[in-house]
Amino acid sequence: MREVAIIGIGMTKFGELWTKSLRDIFVEAALKAIDDAGVDHIDSMYVGTMTPGLFVGQEHIGALMADYLGTAPIPSVRIESACASGGFAFRQAFIDVASGINDIVLAGGVEKMTDGADVTYALSTAADQEYECYHGITFPGLYAMIANIYFHKYGASRKHLAMIAVKNHKNGALNPNAQFQGEITIDDVLNATMVADPISVMDSSPVSDGAACVIVTTVEIAKKLGKPVVKVIGSGAATDTIALHQRKDILNLDAVKFSAERAYKMAGITPTDIGFAEVHDCFTIAELCIMEELGFCERGKAYQMVEKGETALEGRIPINPSGGLKSKGHPVGATGIAQIVEVVEQLRGNAGKRQIKNARIGLTQNMGGSGASSVVHIFKIE
Ligand code: COA
Repeated sequence: MREVAIIGIGMTKFGELWTKSLRDIFVEAALKAIDDAGVDHIDSMYVGTMTPGLFVGQEHIGALMADYLGTAPIPSVRIESACASGGFAFRQAFIDVASGINDIVLAGGVEKMTDGADVTYALSTAADQEYECYHGITFPGLYAMIANIYFHKYGASRKHLAMIAVKNHKNGALNPNAQFQGEITIDDVLNATMVADPISVMDSSPVSDGAACVIVTTVEIAKKLGKPVVKVIGSGAATDTIALHQRKDILNLDAVKFSAERAYKMAGITPTDIGFAEVHDCFTIAELCIMEELGFCERGKAYQMVEKGETALEGRIPINPSGGLKSKGHPVGATGIAQIVEVVEQLRGNAGKRQIKNARIGLTQNMGGSGASSVVHIFKIE
């Protein structure tokens, strides 16, 4: 396996991008990444997107994006794993370069959710249609069940979830690409409109448009190009039951645990080596469960880390320095790549006001549905 590095990153602002189309935002992010990498060609492309057919009536995304980016006839294919589509697209690019098949590969993610589609229905297609959606449950409802059991078992409360939203909005306020760049208070979260008790609007990631791209190559080529070498030292992916009720314990996100274990094993490190992480906080409760599955603390203890400020930007292990899905936005297919863009910015020391001190090793965790798929990557600056 060849050693792999990221040499280019680019993303659009996340938010309601009504004056731009799906292809416009993808090409904008891709051109930024290519420009940042300083390469004159790419060999192949992987485009993560969840359901552009339902959101904007467009399928055949791989070919469309290569056409509009001007990279045809290179191979270009869409990768789909619900909200983890971007992270899985990156994993394909990593495998493509590591295997020696291609040298310079673009991994991108894109979603256009605000153009009038029935968003709640489109998102719910990633849950189990026959056993979950049939009964009217949606993702806020599924995560609300997880939250209620977490509260019951470990003694956490809505206030702890609110602390996560406050932290992520604080970080997002420092991120010019974030959808929401305003700070909020605990009371804003506690008094927000309830979506599915205990999940309020302010516990939820928003509906967003956006795209993000990265350029992946070998460490050898990165060095020849004189680029800062952000190495991909670990990659792990896993799946779990699609329906929540089929799990032995609905607080266990096994796909997150197994994807993380595989990534740690490849990297030859343990959770204590991770300096900071971008994780899939589609709802505030998810951030807590994911931290535990990633091994950042014992089970049932993540809310205490949040309470002590250990996950804040200046804390022991900053979580979601970008603002996370909560504040940066969650254009589902783009999220996994945008997480990687943030980690590269941090490792290069280019994250401006939200720069983490001594950022050396960062982790990304991107999840599909209520945890039926998960992909973890670990990055290190040389
Ligand atoms: N966080 C903060 N503010 C939000 C928000 C969020 N998640 N969602 C909407 N808002 C704000 C809007 O900007 C708007 O503010 P304004 O009045 O100042 O313009 C206001 O709240 C109302 O927005 P609206 O679009 O009418 O909200 P909504 O009620 O249609 O949708 C949710 C709110 C939470 C239901 C929606 O964002 C949602 O479904 N989120 C979850 C998405 C999801 O499931 N993703 C996949 C995860 S697995």
